[in-house]
Amino acid sequence: MDINGRVWSEVTWNLVFTVIVIGFGSGFQHGYNTGVLNEIQNVTTTWIRNCEEPSSSIWENREVCDYTWMETTFIWAQIVSTFCLGGMMGRKYSLLFNNVFVLGGGALMFFSQWQQSYGMLIGGRFLIGIAAGIAAGITPMYLSEISPRSARGAIGTVYQLAITATILLSQILGLKSVMGTDELWPFLLAVTIIPGCVQLLSLPFCPDSPKHLYLDNDDSTRAKEALQWLRCRDNVSEDLQEYADEKDRETGLDETGQISTSDLLTKRKWRRPLIIAVMLMLAQQMSGINAIIFYSTDVFINAGLTQDTAQYATLGMGLANVLVTILSIAIVERFGRKTLLLAGLSGMLMCTAGLLMCLKLNQNADVDEQPSMVASLSVVMVVGFVAFFAIGPGPIPWFFVSELFTQRARPAANAVAVGVNWAANFLISWSFQPLSAWLGSNVFVMFAVLQVIFIVYIWRFVPETKDRTVLEILALFQ
Ligand code: GLC
Repeated sequence: MDINGRVWSEVTWNLVFTVIVIGFGSGFQHGYNTGVLNEIQNVTTTWIRNCEEPSSSIWENREVCDYTWMETTFIWAQIVSTFCLGGMMGRKYSLLFNNVFVLGGGALMFFSQWQQSYGMLIGGRFLIGIAAGIAAGITPMYLSEISPRSARGAIGTVYQLAITATILLSQILGLKSVMGTDELWPFLLAVTIIPGCVQLLSLPFCPDSPKHLYLDNDDSTRAKEALQWLRCRDNVSEDLQEYADEKDRETGLDETGQISTSDLLTKRKWRRPLIIAVMLMLAQQMSGINAIIFYSTDVFINAGLTQDTAQYATLGMGLANVLVTILSIAIVERFGRKTLLLAGLSGMLMCTAGLLMCLKLNQNADVDEQPSMVASLSVVMVVGFVAFFAIGPGPIPWFFVSELFTQRARPAANAVAVGVNWAANFLISWSFQPLSAWLGSNVFVMFAVLQVIFIVYIWRFVPETKDRTVLEILALFQ
């Protein structure tokens, strides 16, 4: 049977249910809160400009202070990027408990306007960031562990699909005609509580990861039951045999107990897979995606679009992100990870160069001259940039980390990789606006240079992992 036929025959309804509860429940916090501030930047910065000093207690009456544009931009960058700071601290708690952060963060953001406190908005973003960080650490690992081998890439991509779909949802709800108004933005931010509640209620019905039960807890009986439930059949000996082989190898190598982050950082044998995991996370973030996702409305305005058109262009970009991620699910098991990573980054490089050209042309355009051609071209470049990201560099790094490590090393490896991902995300989202104020459109030259570095690195050093067991993959490093 060809590979796509094999993939789909292994996907049962129970597996789909679990993938939705875990993948979408957690990806929502990550994606929705990534996209939600993009379109309400103007509405909320106006509110901040008339807000109180952050140091004063929220219970006291405060003097209203007028912030300058520069100060407001700085505070805004802080609000946007605090989300990523929260994301760097997560991963330790279970997904279920994680929803406590969602409820707390959602409530803080919701009440910030009522309390006239942008400090509460920052605090809420921080808590939601912790939730999204934990989700990003645990979810791809969990998805990879419940997947049949032939569908591992496709199911791993579901996490990114949830992120992109909820970024789009936040952009639709954030439109001025929907909830992106002076009165409604607190509700827009609080929407994030709903999937938290849904996950709290539905997650108890999903099984534990069978691989985790077998290899970490030595509980082959529950592992078998979980597998039978997920695969909807009694005979699960093929999966169990793969777990047993992995266990034998770990015992043979005297790998007992969990491998800690410091083992991972200091032991030579983990060095190559770890560097690859980190480089892929850096490639995902430092190629500039969030400069676009967080600030596209602003970028479009700089390219000559009006505020309203810019909002719709942002929507088009979000839609392309979702559609191409779906395409990636369909083709990742056929073309493999490496090809899609390289094709995606090369396309992003071309679009970055094109966008740079458009921004330069627009800068030099006569004020009276209608820059509509250039503006439309810049929309094409941004949408293309995001689409190329979505075909490979977006989804693949999330599950690639789990493919490179054995069970005992997987949590620590994910911890390091996701930490690096959020740190890089923070760096870009925090510095993009100040950097573009300083460098103008040349800020995109920086992204182009980084993209070239990642293309060369992946081409030279990253192995293909498609349809290989973790033991076969590790053998590639010896
Ligand atoms: C990836 C990135 C995230 C980004 C998103 C855009 O999930 O980790 O930071 O916002 O892709 O689709």
